[in-house]
Amino acid sequence: MSWQVDVLTLFPEMFPGFLGMSLAGRALKEQSWTLKTHALRNYGLGRHLAVDDTPFGGGAGMVIRPDVLDTALNDTLSDDERPVLYLSPRGRLLQQSDVVRFASGKGIYLICGRYEGVDERFLENRQIEEVSIGDYVLSGGEPAALVLMDSCIRLLPGVMGSDQSADEESFSNGLLEYPHYTKPAIWNDHAVPDVLLSGHHAAIAKWRQDQAEIITRQRRPDLWHAYQNRLHIENDHSHLDSDATCQGKA
Ligand SMILES: C[S@@+](CC[C@H](N)C(=O)[O-])C[C@H]1O[C@@H](n2cnc3c(N)ncnc32)[C@H](O)[C@@H]1O
Repeated sequence: MSWQVDVLTLFPEMFPGFLGMSLAGRALKEQSWTLKTHALRNYGLGRHLAVDDTPFGGGAGMVIRPDVLDTALNDTLSDDERPVLYLSPRGRLLQQSDVVRFASGKGIYLICGRYEGVDERFLENRQIEEVSIGDYVLSGGEPAALVLMDSCIRLLPGVMGSDQSADEESFSNGLLEYPHYTKPAIWNDHAVPDVLLSGHHAAIAKWRQDQAEIITRQRRPDLWHAYQNRLHIENDHSHLDSDATCQGKA
């Protein structure tokens, strides 16, 4: 069964966008994932099919109406097993662990905002999870939806060449990835690290782990501290487990 994405948007023509190409595009053709867009404009009100209105309390911009969104979502929901996500700069920052959670389910519903965003009552009433792709403001949820979809689709079975590629990537084990090198072995007087030419698999694995730790410590102290805390907790648990085993034997 394919992984299904339903997108509520004012700009359905923005989909599948770049996801119609390369690995995701092939996976779409092979129906590893399926896409349905739902044009919010079809649920617009009055002669002009209005979807938005001015904000109560004044201020610049327009806000997408809750009644329009509610009807559109009711019409779109076909099962309650997929999370409904609103792309929003106020949302929780998307993490690789969220991506793994979304990709391992049946799919997702995505709501793309525009203008100043959407009426708060709609989000509260429907208990919608807000997801941000970064601490910056885009002009609409569509590019954010495509980014979120891309991060999930590449994890679907068979989409990437080797499952191992995902296991060793940045964030999958709490660390940034080690550096990569390819031919030529010497380029502009720079040689690749000797160990990578040694054919010694254990030494290569150790070098990569060390490099991943160094890079994470230098570039992302936040990830490095979280990684160390996790290691301490795992070590404490394994001591407790071995103590319990020793006491059991005594
Ligand atoms: C111009 S933005 C609205 C920004 C909003 N007034 C604020 O200051 O938080 C319009 C839409 O783009 C989307 N968007 C903008 N930045 C985003 C981000 N970092 N992550 C996810 N979606 C984003 C949201 O769907 C949002 O409703």
